Order: sequence, then structure tokens, then C-alpha cells
Amino acid sequence: MIAPIVRSLAALREQTALWRKADETIGVVPTMGALHQGHLSLARAARAKCDRVIVTIFVNPKQFNDPDDLKNYPRTEQQDARKLESIGVDLIYVPDPDQIYPDGFATTVSVAGLTDMLCGESRPGHFDGVATVVSKLFTQTSADFAFFGEKDYQQLQIVRRMARDLDIPIEVIGCPTIREEDGLAMSSRNLLLSDRSRVYAPILAEVMEDMREKLAAGDAMSEIREDAQARIMAAGFNEIDYLELRDGGDLSLLDKTKPDARLFAAAWLAGVRLIDNVAV
Ligand code: PAF
Repeated sequence: MIAPIVRSLAALREQTALWRKADETIGVVPTMGALHQGHLSLARAARAKCDRVIVTIFVNPKQFNDPDDLKNYPRTEQQDARKLESIGVDLIYVPDPDQIYPDGFATTVSVAGLTDMLCGESRPGHFDGVATVVSKLFTQTSADFAFFGEKDYQQLQIVRRMARDLDIPIEVIGCPTIREEDGLAMSSRNLLLSDRSRVYAPILAEVMEDMREKLAAGDAMSEIREDAQARIMAAGFNEIDYLELRDGGDLSLLDKTKPDARLFAAAWLAGVRLIDNVAV
């Protein structure tokens, strides 16, 4: 059965109040739609852990720096609802825009430090938009658990810090990145790749896997970065925003690996920005 789609905060709260009264735990999976297997794996993780599961679909204008990017972001609500059918989600929250940003909305949630690097550097304001909408989705759904993909690892760390700093009583659970057979990390943006770009896109993950092996064997980033960048550019990528080794907790920059280190990359392929990260 397709889960009921709820568009108003009042209707959402009416439902969650009944679940709370019955002492049921609630899991939320925040998304912007265009659901793929990565999102479905989050919904399955929520289904396995919680009595009730809410998937939210909201293309959040505050996290887009580029109006064209916002306009072109895929919107596939009916297909999304059908994809969630077999998982047994209890409710799909597709808030009308004024349910998130009512007239006169004037508050921004900003997480200092973690947002200054990686994607924060090339997408100013992006993570403020994410932290603002996610804090609203957490409080609107009153969920006990939230499920995020490690594919957006920086986002995951920012959301964790935001929930902790604001005392929102929710446990943020990170779930592994889901990949296509050729290694490309699943992302809604992959739908924007042309057939030709789709052929070259997995090279980013391939190069990162080679780097991971070298770093694990003791090589330093300063020794291997140049060659890796050259391979990515030779595959047809137009620009590399970053290719960096960082601490998986505070995201501080590293040259050599240590426990909990992660390799992060963002690169442009024919107008589409791809990001990926792997534990080293
Ligand atoms: O990862 C996403 O799809 C979005 O950034 C999120 C967490 C749903 C907030 O809009």
C-alpha cells in the first residue's frame, strides 16, 4: 500500500501524537526526493529499528546556491511514493513550502567550524540551509531516530552537531554509501549525467579506491594527490573542488592516515558536481 502523503504540519502532528500516545518510536528519513537505492536503504534501516517510519520529501530552496540547480533538481513524487511501497513506510511528509518557511520566516541555524571546509567552501550558505531545514524536520516530526547516508558525510557530521547543540532529543544514525555496480556512489544528481558522462563518472570512485589503498599502506596525500588529480582530469572531469584526507570526527585536514580518517572528493563532470568519500 502506498503510504499516506501528508502536506501540512497540523496533519503530521495529529498522526505523530497518536503514535506517541501508543508509546511507539518514530524514525525519520529526510530526503529531497528523486529516491534511489541509497534512500531506500535508509528507509529500510529505519523500518528495522523503529515502530513508525516517516520519509520526508522537500526540495529545500535554502540549500541551493544556484537558481538553475534548484530549478533542474529532479522532482518525482509519485514514483518516489511507489518506490517506498514495498518497504512499508507509515507516512510520507511532503510539506507545502509555507509549512517549512511561513511568511516572515527569519531564523537560520548555522553550525560553525564544520561548515567552513569541503563543500562549505565552494557552496557558501549551503549547510546553513541544510541545518535550518533539518532542525525543522526533526522538531516537526518529533522523531526519536534520524537516518542519513554517509555519502554526504560532512552533512551527517553537521546534523549530528546541530542536534546535540540544540538539545533536540533525536539519535542521528549514519548508514553506508550505496554504490552502482561500477562503483559510482548513488545520488539523485546522477540522473543529470549525460550517457557519455555516466561512462566516465565512476573513475572518481576508482581513483579514490586506489588512493585509499596507498594511504592505508602509509603513503602521504602530498605524495599521491597530484597523480590522482591528473587521472581524474584525464577522465574528462572539468574541475576538482577538493580531494582531501580528513579526520572523520572533526574533519580536520590530514596528510597521513590515522584511525577514523576519510578521503573526500568533489569534482565537476560536464556541469554536474559529484561528491564521494571513503573510510581509509
Ligand atoms: O541530503 C539531502 O537530501 C538534503 O540535504 C536533506 C538532508 C534532505 C536536507 O534538505
